[in-house]
Amino acid sequence: MTDSITITDNRTGQSTEIPIVNGGVSAAEWSKLLPGIWFYDPGFVSTACCESSISYIDGEAGILRYRGYPIEQLAERSTYLEVAYLLVHGELPTKAEFDAWVHEITHHTFIHENMRKRFLEGFHHDAHPMGMLVSSVAALSTFYLDAKDVFDEESRRKQVIRLIAKMPTLAAAAHRFSVGMPFVYPDNSLGFAPNFLSMMWKTAEPRFDANPALARALDILFILHADHEQNCSTTAMRTVGSSHADPYSACAAACAALYGPRHGGANEAVIRMLESIGSMDNVDSFVDAVKQGHGRLQGFGHRVYKNYDPRARIIKETADQVFAITGKNPLLDIALKLEEIALSDEYFTSRRLYPNVDFYSGLIYQSMGFPLAMYPVLFAIPRTSGWLAHWLELLDQNSKIARPRQLYTGPAERGYVSMDER
Ligand code: CMC
Repeated sequence: MTDSITITDNRTGQSTEIPIVNGGVSAAEWSKLLPGIWFYDPGFVSTACCESSISYIDGEAGILRYRGYPIEQLAERSTYLEVAYLLVHGELPTKAEFDAWVHEITHHTFIHENMRKRFLEGFHHDAHPMGMLVSSVAALSTFYLDAKDVFDEESRRKQVIRLIAKMPTLAAAAHRFSVGMPFVYPDNSLGFAPNFLSMMWKTAEPRFDANPALARALDILFILHADHEQNCSTTAMRTVGSSHADPYSACAAACAALYGPRHGGANEAVIRMLESIGSMDNVDSFVDAVKQGHGRLQGFGHRVYKNYDPRARIIKETADQVFAITGKNPLLDIALKLEEIALSDEYFTSRRLYPNVDFYSGLIYQSMGFPLAMYPVLFAIPRTSGWLAHWLELLDQNSKIARPRQLYTGPAERGYVSMDER
C-alpha cells in the first residue's frame, strides 16, 4: 500500500498522486492539477494550516501533550512557568535556565505608569475586564517600539518575557478597576500565581500571602490552559503574526478571539447555565430542552476531542482540592448530575459530547472568589505562553501571510443605479 492519494479531474481525465505526509496532503500539489478550484472548508474543519511541534492532541483517545510530555505529568509535577519555558523553548529547562527565566519574568511584571493612570483609568466604570485586557495588550505595543523588529532574536526574546510577565498585572488591574479598588503593584518576592492573587485581592495588609493550596490549584489551571494547538485564538495569533505585526498586536487579536462564549467565554456560560438550572429538580427538563435544540449544554463537546477532555479529568480532581478549602460549590451537585445524565444519554453519546476543560474550571474560579467576567481573562494569562510559542514557530518557519480564498456566491456584474431611480 502506498501512503498517498490519487485525484482525477473528471473534466479532463488527468490524475495526480499526492503523498500523505504527517497525516496530511499538500494543497499546493492539488492546486497544480486543479488551479482555481478551492477547498471549501468553513471553520477549517478539515484543514491543517501549518506544521507545528508544540502541542499534540489525539481527540479520539483523549490525549494532550506539550512538546511530547503528557498533560497529566505536567499538571502533577511541573509549574506554569516551567511549562511556559517548555512551550516557548521546546525543551524543559535546566535548574540554571529555569532560575534565570523565573528571575526575568518576575522582574518584568511592572507596567508603565501611563498604562495604569491614563489608559486603564480611561475606561468606563463598568468596562468588562476582558475588553480592557484586549485593548491594553494592544496598547503595550506603543510602549515597546523595538517589538516591531520581529526578526531580531533579542527583541523577540524580550517581548516574550514582557508579555508572559505583564499579562497577570494587566488582568488584575482590569479587575481592580472594574470593582473600584486601587491598583496593586506586583510583588517580586512572590511566585507567579501568588503574585497574581496578591494583585487581585490585596487590601490594606502590607503583604498578601495566598493560601498555598489555592495558589497551586490556580497554577495547575494555568498549566492546563497554556496551549491547545490550532484553536480559534491561536489561529488568530498566527494569522496576525503572519503579516509580521508586532507580538502585542497579534496577542490582542488572540485575546479578542478568546473573548467569545464558544471559546474562552465558555466557562462563564457554564456557571450561568448551572445558575439558571438552579436545582437538581430542573436538571432533567433542562437536558430535554437541550436535546430539542433549545440551547447547548455548556462545557460539553469539542471540535477535536471526541472523548473525555483529559484537562477536564484533572480539573475535576483539582476542584475537589479547592472545595476542601473553600467549601463545596453549591452548583457542583447540579454539574455532576448533568454529567451523569449526559454520559449515558444517546443524544450526547451518539454525538460524542463529553465534558471539556470549561465544565468544571468555572466552579473552581467561582469558589476562589473570581467574578464571572474574569474567567476569560484567567484563560488569557497562561494561553499567552502558547500563543507566543506559536508566534515564534511561525516566524521560524518563514511562513506565508495567511490569506485564504473564498467561493463567491454574490450577484454577477450589474450596473450602478442612481439613488433616485432605486
Ligand atoms: N450541547 C448540545 N449539543 C451539542 C453541543 C452541546 N454543548 N455541542 C455540540 N452539540 C451538537 C450540535 O447541536 C450538533 O448536533 P447535530 O449534528 O444534531 O446538528 C453536533 O453536536 C455537532 O456540533 P457542532 O456545533 O457541529 O460541533 P463543533 O465542533 O462545530 O463545535 C463546540 C464545538 C465546542 C463549539 C460545541 O461543542 C459547543 O458549542 N459546545 C458548548 C460550548 C463550549 O463548551 N465551548 C468550550 C470549548 S472547549 C474550550 C475552548 O476550546 O475554548
